[in-house]
Amino acid sequence: VFRNKLTFFAAANVSSSFPPADLPEIAFAGRSNVGKSSLLNALTRQWGVARTSDKPGLTQTINFFNLGSKICLVDLPGYGFAYAKDEVKDAWEELVKEYVSTRVGLKRVCLLIDTKWGMKPRDHELVHLMERSQTKYQILMTKTDMVFPIDVARRAMEIEENLKANKSVVNPLMMISSKSGAGIRSLRSVLAKISRF
Ligand code: GTP
Ligand code: MG
Repeated sequence: VFRNKLTFFAAANVSSSFPPADLPEIAFAGRSNVGKSSLLNALTRQWGVARTSDKPGLTQTINFFNLGSKICLVDLPGYGFAYAKDEVKDAWEELVKEYVSTRVGLKRVCLLIDTKWGMKPRDHELVHLMERSQTKYQILMTKTDMVFPIDVARRAMEIEENLKANKSVVNPLMMISSKSGAGIRSLRSVLAKISRF
């Protein structure tokens, strides 16, 4: 399914402008700058469709991408962006929370965690919310190219320990790098199964 053409088709900054949920959806969530937009591009090998930036906070709307009319990939705005005004920050978070807990057709949330930094309070908040709304999610440790393998392993153990009592988390934790391509193929095959539900 990831060989299909990726086309941007909607951006929403309020829930009333979410497009109809006609396709199974996979969303990418996480703190600002963890690499959500880069991952969308790496998965589909279509660089530049989801815009990426060094400056955190680039994606400020929920962006919906159609992948060959088979599946919808959703780039969520990152939270924890330090430079934004509080009102703006709160509005983004509310939007993400509403999307994650109410969206019909949402099959999976990929929660991206920067391997270097690990899980932060905002990540835990989102995890709690998904547990409460029984939204299926999986954890992706990103930017593994930036960290020594021993530290990747240590971080993985820490996250698994944190989540071991949770019920809506699916699949083993995966480690990826959009830059080196590590883990991208395995992630594709895991996510491809979702479109066949
Ligand atoms: P927001 O839209 O602000 O929420 O950020 P985002 O999560 O979409 O991050 P984005 O994909 O824009 O990437 C942020 C920065 O991290 C960019 O400079 C990317 O080039 C870089 N980056 C993304 N993935 C990787 C990776 O696997 N390894 C390394 N070294 N850098 C990465
Ligand atoms: Mg982005």
